[in-house]
Amino acid sequence: MKKPISGFSKLNKSEKIEWLSKNSFSSDINIKNILLQYCNSNDKLQKLHDEFAENTISNFYLPFAIAPNFIINNKPYTIPMVTEESSVIAAASKSAKFWLDKGGFRASVLSTNKVGQVHFLYKGDYKTLKKYFDKIKPKLILDVSSITSNMNKRGGGIKSIQLLNLSDKIENYFQIKAIFETQDAMGANFINSCLEQFAKTFKDNFTEKNEIEIIMSILSNYVPECIVKAEVSCEIEKLSDTSIIDPFDFANKFVRAVKIAEVDKYRAVTHNKGIMNGIDSVVIATGNDFRAIESAAHAYASKSGTYKSLTNASVENNIFKFSIEIPLALGTVGGLTKLHPLANLALEILDKPNSKDLMKITAVAGLAQNFAAIKSLITTGIQHGHMKMHLINILNQHRASDIEKEKAIEYFKTNTVSHLEVDLFINKLRSNE
Ligand code: MEV
Repeated sequence: MKKPISGFSKLNKSEKIEWLSKNSFSSDINIKNILLQYCNSNDKLQKLHDEFAENTISNFYLPFAIAPNFIINNKPYTIPMVTEESSVIAAASKSAKFWLDKGGFRASVLSTNKVGQVHFLYKGDYKTLKKYFDKIKPKLILDVSSITSNMNKRGGGIKSIQLLNLSDKIENYFQIKAIFETQDAMGANFINSCLEQFAKTFKDNFTEKNEIEIIMSILSNYVPECIVKAEVSCEIEKLSDTSIIDPFDFANKFVRAVKIAEVDKYRAVTHNKGIMNGIDSVVIATGNDFRAIESAAHAYASKSGTYKSLTNASVENNIFKFSIEIPLALGTVGGLTKLHPLANLALEILDKPNSKDLMKITAVAGLAQNFAAIKSLITTGIQHGHMKMHLINILNQHRASDIEKEKAIEYFKTNTVSHLEVDLFINKLRSNE
């Protein structure tokens, strides 16, 4: 067991690495070399990355890729995506190409409200509390004016504040629930600062201060009123593609596959995971908070009380329609968006979108990903494409040279990829050398 250490955060980076190296459980690993080879030789850039978090000892690389050929609301896009999963980018690109000559994707933002809550306990009479809340409300707003003034200028701010009596759920439990518009910012800091000031003003101005106990003030990542919709549609005949079955069979099978994800939770989670493959990749590439996006998406998928697919598919009057409706509280200013050089570049690649544009682009990436996954699942099967992409990972595990890779890729064009088959192929290749 490692010895506990105090004052670790005060050590400099080399000292931290030194400590880790000395206290590491495996002496075979050259920790220092591995960590240092991922540090940037540009000191200024490395310092920037070091300061994104505490106790930073290196960088963790993920592929930064692009998926071209997307048309969204008649405008062409190349979408930057960050993912470690081989086949995600290929799937997105294939989907983009598939819909390119069918009018592309359409997307619209339905709402942009965000929620913040002050949770508190109050032991007195509810009528007195309600009367006090109505009286103090203008002061609650006034006391945050230094925080809200810039946001107000940009057209955002506080949209409403209400008092909720939740004492039937937990004894003496009440809530101040506020709705915010944060424009191009994700808005977490703005909302949390407002809430903490609400809590202070609310408690400090109450005559019987001790009757109010503030539990916590925090934004909610559940954003069922920050919704974007993306869709594609075309005549069924146009679904024909050399790799797919008869377009009518394809459309019907596709609709069934989505229906299954509406009624079966096991399938729904995997179905939505595939959507998040696309969404998270864009969220990470643009420096947004993928944990917030993930929690909101899955909570929204359960809004009916049953966890369901986030996408819908239908066939009506010879038209195939496929759509997604998803909460996406994204920002294009603040946080890492401008600070991380690659996040900033990702936004440049997307032609400097505002937050609403980014919501649309990201929803499209999710829909495209889901389309590609279902298309494979109901036709060739998922392993066909997956294992082709996975081949490179297996070859890298064998430390295959470029020539070996070339030979393997050629061979596995007509042979089934599996760990065993790749092992055999490489061993044979090497024994013949
Ligand atoms: C793999 O990362 C995602 C899929 O499993 C999604 C799906 O099954 O729809 C292919």
